[in-house]
Amino acid sequence: MTLSAPRPTSSVVARSSDVAEGGRYVVAVRDDLHIGLFRFRGRLYAYENTCPHQGGPVCQGRLVDGVRERLDAHRHSLGLAFDEDDPHIVCPWHGFEYRITTGEHPGAPRFRLRSFAVTEENGEISVAL
Ligand code: FES
Repeated sequence: MTLSAPRPTSSVVARSSDVAEGGRYVVAVRDDLHIGLFRFRGRLYAYENTCPHQGGPVCQGRLVDGVRERLDAHRHSLGLAFDEDDPHIVCPWHGFEYRITTGEHPGAPRFRLRSFAVTEENGEISVAL
């Protein structure tokens, strides 16, 4: 006999209009599960609203562009600049940052937000739970 893992079920959690371009929407899916939805350049991302550091409400933190060091052709620093191609969410408890597009902490990839597959159809946003 072969046992297979239960298949995730897809649940409607928001309307498309709830998540503006460049914005976020946090929704309580169950008593024990809150999910942050983010829209960046038209694509949706869904993460559990629990920081892998110490459990803070990470999806309710500030949205900021990541900081990148610019280098010249000889790899000398030209200083730091915000990178509008790499938006981050900053956990309000201790400031850990995570990439919106991957859920990964940029400096410590072992810290990663729990992600969910997300779809959008007919004005509704669903996540696979
Ligand atoms: S709980 Fe999020 S940075 Fe500590």
